[in-house]
Amino acid sequence: MTISKVGIIGTGTMGLGVAQVCASAGHDVIAVKATPGPAEKAKDTVAKGLGKMVERGKMEAATRDAILGRMTFTGDENAVTDSDLVIESIIEDLETKKALFRRLDQVCRPDTLLTTNTSTLSVTAMMSVCQKRDRVAGLHFFNPAPVMKLVEVIHGFETSDETLQKLETFCNGINKDPVIVQDTTGFIVNRLLVPYMLNAIRMLERGTGAIETIDHAMKAGAAHPMGPFELADYIGLDVVEAMSMNIYMDVRHEHHAPPHTLTRLVQLGYLGRKTGKGFYDYSAKPPVQNPQLQRPVI
Ligand code: 3HC
Repeated sequence: MTISKVGIIGTGTMGLGVAQVCASAGHDVIAVKATPGPAEKAKDTVAKGLGKMVERGKMEAATRDAILGRMTFTGDENAVTDSDLVIESIIEDLETKKALFRRLDQVCRPDTLLTTNTSTLSVTAMMSVCQKRDRVAGLHFFNPAPVMKLVEVIHGFETSDETLQKLETFCNGINKDPVIVQDTTGFIVNRLLVPYMLNAIRMLERGTGAIETIDHAMKAGAAHPMGPFELADYIGLDVVEAMSMNIYMDVRHEHHAPPHTLTRLVQLGYLGRKTGKGFYDYSAKPPVQNPQLQRPVI
């Protein structure tokens, strides 16, 4: 079985980015909006992103139209039952994901590969509610999905070698670089990246340097495209906090627990770029350090 038809459940930033990547590589894609509301809005988001590439001369209008033509947007979860591969990209809540996997396992074709794009939750826990477990795995993309090359292919406890091989081939076919990783909390990238961002926040709390200074140091000194605070704001501070908590709950080492400043910003609804304020204030052009963080956060 080669993978031709891909079902994506969840049309947030990651779900839509992955849907766009798959359709750009020639796959038929069914994108399912997992929460109430019009699914067509998701199509507008993708069309807008592709439209910008056409405007900048990076893509032909005909290519954009062909990509959009391969994408179907719906609110009906059952539309994915005939897919060769399903990639779940819904809310990062284990019980919600398990309930979805239980349903998918029952309604999808027996040879449909069922995967999760979770950042830090257990693939094996999602697999545990399925009858046919050998076809369940993780397929973890990075934001922005159309740009970032890596996909972590997660080996759950009962994932078969055949499933992993098919997923690896699929990733190569959509122009990504897959790595196979065992199912440990945070896999490779988030397990390294989350403590890195947490350490930067603790460094700020200790007064080692200002936000812009620490970011500048990591860009100029370690050739990172973004500093740790820019990156945290880009990912979303609620997401960073949730990833931190998931890793902490697994290893129970305080080093992985969310620092106070992160928790406070999330409590206040300052979630980074998506809310206009986080470690930076994005109402200024270019963004400036959030002035509220110039004094200690209590
Ligand atoms: N969709 C499609 N293309 C995009 C894009 C998006 N959302 N954002 C940027 N691009 C493209 C641009 O079109 C441009 O393409 P071009 O070179 O062909 O013109 C290229 O990427 C560079 O974009 P820009 O010039 O606008 O901006 P930058 O050069 O500053 O790059 C960036 C932006 C790619 C986001 C870069 O800053 C970067 O790589 N940052 C680090 C991102 C990162 O680490 N992501 C991983 C986060 S962890 C994660 O996702 C795990 C999850 O589980 C939380």
